Amino acid sequence: MERTFVYGMAVSGNNFTDRVKETKRIISNFENGINTILISPRRMGKTSLINKVCNSIHKPGIVTVRMDVYNCRSEYDFYNTFCSEILKQTSSKIEQALEAIKEFLGRIAPKISISPDMTSEYSLSLGLSPKNISPECILSLPEKIAEKHGYHIIICIDEFQQIGEFPDSLDVQKKLRSIWQHFRNVSFCFYGSKKHMMLKIFQNRRMPFYQFGELITLDMIPTHDWIEYIESRFKENGKSISAEYAEKICNSVDNYSSYVQQLSWNVFVNTEIEVDDAAFNNAMSDMMSQCSALFVQQTEGLTSYQMNFLRAICDGVHSDFTSRNVLEDYNLGSKSNISRIKNALQEKELIECREDGIHIADPMLKLYLKNGLK
Ligand SMILES: Nc1ncnc2c1ncn2[C@@H]1O[C@H](COP(=O)(O)OP(=O)(O)OP(=O)(O)O)[C@@H](O)[C@H]1O
Ligand SMILES: [Mg+2]
Repeated sequence: MERTFVYGMAVSGNNFTDRVKETKRIISNFENGINTILISPRRMGKTSLINKVCNSIHKPGIVTVRMDVYNCRSEYDFYNTFCSEILKQTSSKIEQALEAIKEFLGRIAPKISISPDMTSEYSLSLGLSPKNISPECILSLPEKIAEKHGYHIIICIDEFQQIGEFPDSLDVQKKLRSIWQHFRNVSFCFYGSKKHMMLKIFQNRRMPFYQFGELITLDMIPTHDWIEYIESRFKENGKSISAEYAEKICNSVDNYSSYVQQLSWNVFVNTEIEVDDAAFNNAMSDMMSQCSALFVQQTEGLTSYQMNFLRAICDGVHSDFTSRNVLEDYNLGSKSNISRIKNALQEKELIECREDGIHIADPMLKLYLKNGLK
């Protein structure tokens, strides 16, 4: 079913707009074997963009493999997902996957379940454990498959920051990097929803994945692209919106992709034929009620220092938190308290460091906090 506006899941087709430049750049990286790391705030469009890129690559000799490692909690959890996705996505038939297992993974006895409707979908459970296979053998699987078939594999790993949460994470990262850096026929694309964790893995000189690939930051979709998109979605679905209201939607949520779609949908359902002030205002209050349960949950455990810090940001303070005025006006405790507060809020992904200082990461949370302060 084609939908008017989509949020909360990766988008494609008519619900995907812009990203022409980024798509081109990442395709070119993929086609030239350059490892890519895609960073952005939450819900900006990383997963959608990589899906689009993978579906657009038709160059012979390139095979893309996508996996999401959000549910992986340990090193071998990850290895199981890693291998089974590679095997499934590089084999057109089960027999081919079984052959590759026999050839490259040795004594492993996989469990296969085929979906009842007998479509080509099947699940592969390899049962890899430290008892039956070494990390080296597992991690070099894609290179061996690529070499055998004479193609290049691009492995796209979504929610890669989960690796930073494993027990012995640093050791695991060292193992991955030490093997993957020698690959000649395989390259990688890493992305994930926790920006702060991703930056820790890729931007810290002491970490194994430092400078592993090209770091691409995904910016907001520009307003003029959004306006065109919003106007056309309204029109195709029998209603109309002026460029001014479409722009107002973007401005209200700082062009934050998922919120632009969510607010557009709210405006759409509050509109009979053509968007007016009443429809827009109702949509904004619907948005706030949809979001506030989450914000209550995100802020209820915060200390009063942390809440005061957020209040300062809402008042327009973005730097110089250790100055006497700010410390006193917002009751932030001592100077040395500031980095603790900042780190804690950053870990929770509630704030974000940008070039011009510290900001509330989520534009709706900013509005929610501002409303609460009135
Ligand atoms: N190119 C796009 N065109 C239109 N809407 C988009 C686009 N990219 C993202 N969106 C909107 O943002 C939402 C989130 O997209 P997506 O899941 O791809 O983002 P993400 O960055 O992977 O999110 P997360 O940080 O949660 O992993 C989509 O449901 C959609 O509403
Ligand atoms: Mg995502």
